Amino acid sequence: MKQTSTTKKHWSSLVILVPLLLTSCNQFVLLAASTTEFDHDEQCKAWLVQSIPTDMPDLELVRGVLDTADVFRWLAGNSTQNLDIMTQMWQLIARPNDSRSADYGYSEENMQSFGSSEGLSVYKSIEDAADRDINIRLLQHTGRYPDNTDEPDGLASGRTNVESVTLLLKNWFGSGFIHAKVWISDSRHVYVGSANNDWKDFTQVAYAPHNLVKEIGIYLVDCPTVAKQLEIYYNNLWTLGTLNYSDYTTNIWDQQSQISRTVPCWSHFVPSKGRCRYITFTSLSGCSSHSRLSYPLLTDPSTFQLSVETPGLNYPNSHPLLSYLSFGPPELLFGNLQTDEQAWVDTIRSVNFGETVRINTMDWLGQSKDSAQVVYWSSLASTVSQVVFSKQAKVKLLVSYMPDFNINTDQYLKSLLDSNKLCSSSPDNHCLGEVEIKYYMIPGYFSSGPAISNGNSTGNTYPGYTRYNQGEIRS
Ligand SMILES: *[C@@H]1O[C@H](CO)[C@@H](O)[C@H](O)[C@H]1NC(C)=O
Ligand SMILES: *[C@@H]1O[C@H](CO)[C@@H](O)[C@H](O)[C@H]1NC(C)=O
Ligand SMILES: *[C@@H]1O[C@H](CO)[C@@H](O)[C@H](O)[C@H]1NC(C)=O
Ligand SMILES: *[C@@H]1O[C@H](CO)[C@@H](O)[C@H](O)[C@H]1NC(C)=O
Repeated sequence: MKQTSTTKKHWSSLVILVPLLLTSCNQFVLLAASTTEFDHDEQCKAWLVQSIPTDMPDLELVRGVLDTADVFRWLAGNSTQNLDIMTQMWQLIARPNDSRSADYGYSEENMQSFGSSEGLSVYKSIEDAADRDINIRLLQHTGRYPDNTDEPDGLASGRTNVESVTLLLKNWFGSGFIHAKVWISDSRHVYVGSANNDWKDFTQVAYAPHNLVKEIGIYLVDCPTVAKQLEIYYNNLWTLGTLNYSDYTTNIWDQQSQISRTVPCWSHFVPSKGRCRYITFTSLSGCSSHSRLSYPLLTDPSTFQLSVETPGLNYPNSHPLLSYLSFGPPELLFGNLQTDEQAWVDTIRSVNFGETVRINTMDWLGQSKDSAQVVYWSSLASTVSQVVFSKQAKVKLLVSYMPDFNINTDQYLKSLLDSNKLCSSSPDNHCLGEVEIKYYMIPGYFSSGPAISNGNSTGNTYPGYTRYNQGEIRS
């Protein structure tokens, strides 16, 4: 959550990271949309949450910031009725004895020093909640090989109070996956952040082969307003996971990205005659009359006024902030929730004249990464240039260094630097705006992978999928 001020409004945005992978109404799909209600007496409290890799004495937990595994255990441990979890990956229980695993070949002692017991204890806290008869929903992408969805499916197996749904967004959008990590307990306590349900994300932090990460998130306590909005999004994805996608998808020509691709039948890209309609649980209509050339821009998302206490950091909290939640992909926003892309653009644009924007990211690309067809995507780079040129802002960009970049990250970053140098290079501009970029490399990054491969020792010192920076936050 960030707090910035513009001349007109105070915004604070919670950004949920779901990949935006470009990435006559006759059918009905049951998905929810919301109108916003909020409780003025709500005593919402927020803490930042992070994971710090083990063996990094110089990188300490920031004072007042909580530890991811603690927060997950508390959310499960404090649940009295419901617990909804959404994640891309599961691998809470380490697999050093499974030759297919990235943990393979490490000793019990190694695993202990990597901190794998944190994952096991989070797993047990979910299992305990299940045994207390809490209603638990587990929603995920396919999971991490070789476990895949064994852990959530195992938790659901033989229990009527636990359900597990695997949603492959690829089926609905041609590419993409659930990337949001969300925990909602009793419709009032929330975690939103970058940490998967994977032991490595608590004490090693991981994502792609051979890397290392630092995870970051936010923990909200007693925030039913935010929790209920998140629940709507959760319920929509859950519904998607239970529908037969082949009945509700169609191929369209995407004028904005210049590709043809698969979308849900209620997408704005479907000509109105062939567009299906979703029935909302409230009055919002899912059927507008014109097909669109691009996604409609939401200038007025559903917002709420919220006072948030920050017991960990004790920021002054004199006035309630106007806040909104952002999500993706746009087909799941139902006209009143904000897109992630727009939230990022708004956040960059909220910088004051001559001040600084800080961006921390795992990737920086001006194009798609995981979609079947390559799509050019320049909106963040354009927005950065807008504030550099017009507001003389300094934009600091921290990018996780991952040698397995299969796309030219270096080149994209260089072009971002070069195009913004243009501002100060002309004496007529009197421009002080600039872009500054740093790579962030975590020690051990080059020696991650299984300890044994094909019967031979690999010389690796950390399990695969560890030692890189995945947290994404903007201010
Ligand atoms: C409930 O959450 C609080 C912090 O929000 C934590 O101190 C407490 O230990 C949690 N209780 C359980 C049973 O997890
Ligand atoms: C792996 O195997 C060893 C030796 O058989 C055993 O001592 C250890 O407990 C096993 N570890 C796990 C995590 O199953
Ligand atoms: C989904 O629908 C298609 C076409 O309507 C059908 O062929 C297929 O068997 C269905 N799949 C499932 C899992 O029901
Ligand atoms: C294991 O290492 C030995 C000795 O370096 C080598 O001859 C053998 O080919 C390796 N085995 C595999 C499966 O890579």
